[in-house]
Amino acid sequence: MTNISRIAVLTSGGDAPGMNAAIRAVVRKGIFHNLKVFGISRGYEGLLNGEIKEMKVGSVADIVHRGGTILRTARCVELKTPEGQRLAARQLKTNKIDALVVIGGDGSFRGAQALAAQGIRVIGIPATIDNDILGTDTTIGFDTAVNTVVEAVSKIRDTATSHERTFVIEVMGRGCGNIALQAGIACGAESIVIPEITFEMEEIVAKLKRGYQRGKNHSIIIVSEGAANGYQIGRDIYNSSGLDTKVTILGHIQRGGSPSAIDTLMASAMGGKAVELILAGENELMTACINQKFKGVPLEAIEGPKRRLNMELYELAGQLSI
Ligand code: ADP
Ligand code: F6P
Repeated sequence: MTNISRIAVLTSGGDAPGMNAAIRAVVRKGIFHNLKVFGISRGYEGLLNGEIKEMKVGSVADIVHRGGTILRTARCVELKTPEGQRLAARQLKTNKIDALVVIGGDGSFRGAQALAAQGIRVIGIPATIDNDILGTDTTIGFDTAVNTVVEAVSKIRDTATSHERTFVIEVMGRGCGNIALQAGIACGAESIVIPEITFEMEEIVAKLKRGYQRGKNHSIIIVSEGAANGYQIGRDIYNSSGLDTKVTILGHIQRGGSPSAIDTLMASAMGGKAVELILAGENELMTACINQKFKGVPLEAIEGPKRRLNMELYELAGQLSI
């Protein structure tokens, strides 16, 4: 055990459903272990401005089920500079914070590592709808985002069937096709376009035509924003096939809403794990979920490459949509 008595938590980068449940778990588990817990508003931006307030048990009441983040989030260019990193570390030291919990994506973890280099004890909790972080099976927010896409597509399918139309649906995923792939399979999409795999427009169109020839009356194409622009794909399909094609960009709807049970549970477990790791004297770790167990993995080990796509799932998607 270490002589840690004051910890802080912040959320950074793109918000993700379940961040609130993670904040709640850090605060409650910390207080359970007699720590003083501080919330930092607006990510690293708020840290630089000294927006640091003590949180009590009641500060996190009634948030476990709420989307967004009560601490707010931000992207902060200044933290990428040595001066910004020194100022951030100074703010934490002035406030006698013994350890910082960073809830965010891999960019936020690079910020956490920069603070560790300034002598700050840090633990990361992976939260991003993209599920693109190496070293953990899944990230907080991904399951909810996939469910949001599936729900939206099932509504679109109703109108697609009625009008016998082809729909192109663009989903989020910065340079990564996990949302498109998993939602695409769950929706029974005809084609899934993702940045990890080169796509041939002719193949997509040929498959659409085959489907209509054997009696299909509508088609769904899921496109990851990192692979192509949904409107462009829609135009290409129409131009080469003449099919009545509509495009929907789902956008930030995928980042909002109440977290799914899976995300809420994982956020609670990871928040608790973060405090345990701090109490055990650990530093520069991310709380990972590996085979349904929660453990700390070094932030250093997950730096650089993004999480690889599940190729078995991708191949299955092709086999199920013949
Ligand atoms: P995410 O955490 O969702 O991947 P970003 O990539 O936008 O989101 O990163 C969030 C914030 O983390 C940035 O605005 C910046 O403050 C900080 N950050 C990102 N990369 C670095 C870096 N290389 N060094 C220091 N801080 C960084
Ligand atoms: O990283 C999460 C994510 O939603 C990506 O899928 C998307 O490309 C990006 O954030 C958009 O971020 P923003 O609109 O907040 O700049």
